[in-house]
Amino acid sequence: MRTTRIGTAAILLVIILSLLTWKRNEFTNYLPSDYLPEEVPEKVPEANNYFHTDETQRIQLAKVIQEFVDRPIQTWDEAVKLNSQTCPTEGINYDKGAVEENDQKWRAIPSTQISDWRHAIAAHLYSKHREEKASLDKRHEDLAVPSDGIAKEIKSGRGIVMAAGDRAAAIRARTNTRLLRSYNCTLPIEIFHFSSELSEPDKSLLEDLSQLESNSKVTIRLVQGIEKGNGWKAFQIKGAAIQQSSFDEILYLDTDSYPLRNPEDLFKSKHWKETGLLLWPDYTKSHATNPLWRLLGQQCRDEYEGESGQIFISRSRHQDVLWLVEYFAVHHEEFYGFMGGDRDSFRAAALLLNKPWAGPGRLNAAAGVVFEGNVNGGGHTMLQADMDGKWMFVHANLIKHSQFTQRPLWKTIHRAANDKFVNGKTYGSVEKPNDRLGLGVSLHVDPTPRMVTIMKAMEGYDAGVVVVEEWDKYEELRGFEEKWFGFGGVH
Ligand SMILES: *[C@@H]1O[C@H](CO)[C@@H](O)[C@H](O)[C@H]1NC(C)=O
Repeated sequence: MRTTRIGTAAILLVIILSLLTWKRNEFTNYLPSDYLPEEVPEKVPEANNYFHTDETQRIQLAKVIQEFVDRPIQTWDEAVKLNSQTCPTEGINYDKGAVEENDQKWRAIPSTQISDWRHAIAAHLYSKHREEKASLDKRHEDLAVPSDGIAKEIKSGRGIVMAAGDRAAAIRARTNTRLLRSYNCTLPIEIFHFSSELSEPDKSLLEDLSQLESNSKVTIRLVQGIEKGNGWKAFQIKGAAIQQSSFDEILYLDTDSYPLRNPEDLFKSKHWKETGLLLWPDYTKSHATNPLWRLLGQQCRDEYEGESGQIFISRSRHQDVLWLVEYFAVHHEEFYGFMGGDRDSFRAAALLLNKPWAGPGRLNAAAGVVFEGNVNGGGHTMLQADMDGKWMFVHANLIKHSQFTQRPLWKTIHRAANDKFVNGKTYGSVEKPNDRLGLGVSLHVDPTPRMVTIMKAMEGYDAGVVVVEEWDKYEELRGFEEKWFGFGGVH
């Protein structure tokens, strides 16, 4: 009798342990049906609380969605009046192009459209949740029958995801991977591509990477389901790559966003532990007329829009954010016009779902070459910092558009003098005085004769609101260019 009980207890223990190991599988449910992760991490954060957490998350999401749908819907006039209280336009660098071009269009969005959007978003989130729940229930049933080969081991549930859509991106991914290696970064890397977009030599270029001696693993993966009638389009390879990666804790990197040191450190920060979501700001601030605020039913935040060159996201904590980002991508014709393409769609999703995020401890800067006779210009790189305000990513997003002949490529930095978040806050805080960072600083892209950014004080503001510094002034930036060229950097 006693041995039977012990036996039963042992079997139960085995079942519980298998349940925990299976947790990682839950978030594959929304993926294309032909997709299965190659590897499943053995350990996931908060595994002990998984089923409990999942149920709590479900209830929490249902509440957030209901509250979102129920918020009063404002007319354009009401919204702009309210938003203008928090989002002034004086001294603010907003996206003039988008705001001016879309003025008539945004004005004309009827309240019924806002209501339809909200209901469609709610329906999408509920349906994703139902799918997940059904699959979870099925797994519970299936557990009664032992099955083989479910969980294979990988080192950790963390990894880096890149998307290389063409040959130039594949070359950048190679440089980026070599840089990461030079920092002794041990995170596995998954590089996604489309089969049609990379020629055989290009694929072998990437595959060579996985042969290089290293303690981190590089896997080349084909994006599933793009342009097969499920709404994904080629330019949304980013969202698809994040979704289809096999990691739980993801650093998504644009191939042209080069880390300056090992990004694993950011996964160890208290900010990551608290939020599971790290976002970085763009140069443009939210505008009162943007329909995003009517959609969200929130007052405009005096805050820089997001840029998506680097994103840290925990899938198990923010599956709903990813569902929403996917929804915006699939319905890009409706939403991307007021989200700056996909760049602000992560912040929009986090705001809609009432999820706080953290980010850098200072605003981004514009770095680049020195042009004779144009002291404000020459920017081709968005310099992004870590939580402590130390430069962390060289997001060289314009360098590919300009054939610079001068060296060094990274010579000078323009930044807002008032660029540091105070009171221990980071990007994501709009508390005073953090809402006023960068006041009076304008940045625009000048397409001629070479595409560069120009940062300067706005009219009526002291020239001192912009600081111009030498690249080499910062210890963390010194030597980057040599490394970049040494690792095959091409521009
Ligand atoms: C990487 O590891 C090697 C060997 O242990 C060491 O010499 C080097 O300083 C490390 N580099 C960095 C950036 O930590």
